[in-house]
Amino acid sequence: MYAYDEIDRTLVNERVSEFRDQVKRRLSGELTEDEFKILRLQNGVYLQLHAYMFRVAIPYGTLASNQLRALAHVARKYDRGYGHFTTRQNIQFNWIKLAELPDALADLAEVGIHAMQTSGNNMRNVTSDQWAGVAPGEIEDPRIWSELIRQHTTLHPEFSFLPRKFKIAITASDHDRAAIKIHDIGLKLVKNEKGETGFEVLVGGGLGRTPFIGKTIKHFVHGRDILSYIEAILRVYNQYGRRDNIYKARIKILVHELGIEKFSREVEEEWQHIRNSSLQIDDEVIEDIRSRFSYPNYEKLPHMPDELRQAAADPDFEAWRKNSVSPHKVQGYSIVTISLKPIGAPPGDATAEQMDALADLADKYSFGEIRVGHEQNLALPHVAKRDLPALWKALDKLGLATPNVNLITDIIACPGLDYCSLANARSIPIAQELTRRFANHELANLIGRLHINISGCINACGHHHVGHIGILGVEKNGEEVYQITIGGRADESAALGNLIGPGVKFDEVADVVEDIVEAYLALRERPEELFVDTVKRLGVEPFKERVYATR
Ligand code: HEM
Ligand code: SF4
Repeated sequence: MYAYDEIDRTLVNERVSEFRDQVKRRLSGELTEDEFKILRLQNGVYLQLHAYMFRVAIPYGTLASNQLRALAHVARKYDRGYGHFTTRQNIQFNWIKLAELPDALADLAEVGIHAMQTSGNNMRNVTSDQWAGVAPGEIEDPRIWSELIRQHTTLHPEFSFLPRKFKIAITASDHDRAAIKIHDIGLKLVKNEKGETGFEVLVGGGLGRTPFIGKTIKHFVHGRDILSYIEAILRVYNQYGRRDNIYKARIKILVHELGIEKFSREVEEEWQHIRNSSLQIDDEVIEDIRSRFSYPNYEKLPHMPDELRQAAADPDFEAWRKNSVSPHKVQGYSIVTISLKPIGAPPGDATAEQMDALADLADKYSFGEIRVGHEQNLALPHVAKRDLPALWKALDKLGLATPNVNLITDIIACPGLDYCSLANARSIPIAQELTRRFANHELANLIGRLHINISGCINACGHHHVGHIGILGVEKNGEEVYQITIGGRADESAALGNLIGPGVKFDEVADVVEDIVEAYLALRERPEELFVDTVKRLGVEPFKERVYATR
């Protein structure tokens, strides 16, 4: 856990009073909606289809149990009893009343939670691996660096009026759980030949209407230089980014238009001016941040406790353990992923009751800590293996033990036409139908790792381009039509999917996905060959043939 200092606490509280005043002026009519827009967008408040939507940051996906209780409280008191966890370690509330928003913000500020820079053309929440600090083999805890960048960029005047929003993600593991290659800047912690810690820096990734996979701009930037290097990138972006055209304003377009070589030369030149300035990070600063992260006092525990051995006789427990429990860097402990994708429900939602109960379980079994992951699932990061059976029973009672993590029903979907004013088509009902089709866990296990991503319009909030199966809703002659891609992925081998053919109607989507899956099961070389690998080996054609043969 990270403990904010006095400066942070003051900043968060001042923002609440400032926003309270702005809301008051909007409600009295002193500010028009247009005038208010720029102000609300500094505080994570969007105007949506039915109401204002409120987006709250969960820096690097780490929550203390009292913070999760505060989110539950906001869901219960100011919203309709639930919250929606997003793909960028935020939570959204869809039914907030403007008059009550300042109170909601004030209640969150009490536990150090805020909504600064969760919208607007600024530096968004700096995300990281939800297993940070506990993943075996990680170089070091990436959250230290996320926090450093968060502090440096929060309300920084140079980053507050960028051409467009800006997203950074950091990982320190070989397996990328933070989707760094689809971020404006992706950072991967690495060691150089001298054993020093630094970053491989990627730039220009992003989805939306013009998707790009990020490119490596520099293979090694020393840790002490990372702020100046990021600042150099942002200066080049600030200077040349296309402010004239919102569709061309993201850094990915600039990188594409200049080419990565020219772009990196510009950055390099800028960097040489600022590299040896106050932006260079002293070891003490890093140590100070490091010391504000507290780690549990782990016990010395056996690798295979009796409780686990006995519980293995229960096939339901085993199914969950195999699916949702992952190795921890400390012997005797596990990381437990909590699926927010129950069959038939909207992906990523949690009720206030579930959040409260999870906070209690975190206190009992995970040193009071909860994580939020990019796939819209939660995790308990420090569970003693002996406690797994008891935890499973408790989660099951709460409807939070669906053993479908990373399987076909673990779907990422945007809000789509149900909530979003920009949507062309529904996303959540498609996800719900797909989870019903593949509700049988044996079938889902037989299929193996397969990610479906759904967006209700080209803005790609559901990351459809990088879904193993991607579904994009578009509007054609007043009707919802869905374009389907296959072969995308968001991890260290990130790739954009390829279209399999003409769009299909709402009612046909689940049938088409079934056809694609059947084709895969017939075409894979062996059960371990993942769907994406089969697509890579064979291309789109054999799948296209099956899907369109009868249509
Ligand atoms: C309901 C209100 C929402 C609205 C109006 C909205 C709007 C947008 C727009 C306009 C973009 C494209 C911006 C650009 O490329 O410059 C975007 C991107 C994005 N949205 Fe949303 N969004 C909403 C909800 C969500 C939710 C619930 C999630 C998470 C599940 C989400 C995740 C994202 C992500 C990750 C991107 C970045 C995609 C990329 O890399 O380009 N959004 N959103
Ligand atoms: S992808 Fe489109 S429909 Fe879905 S939330 Fe984003 S803007 Fe709305």
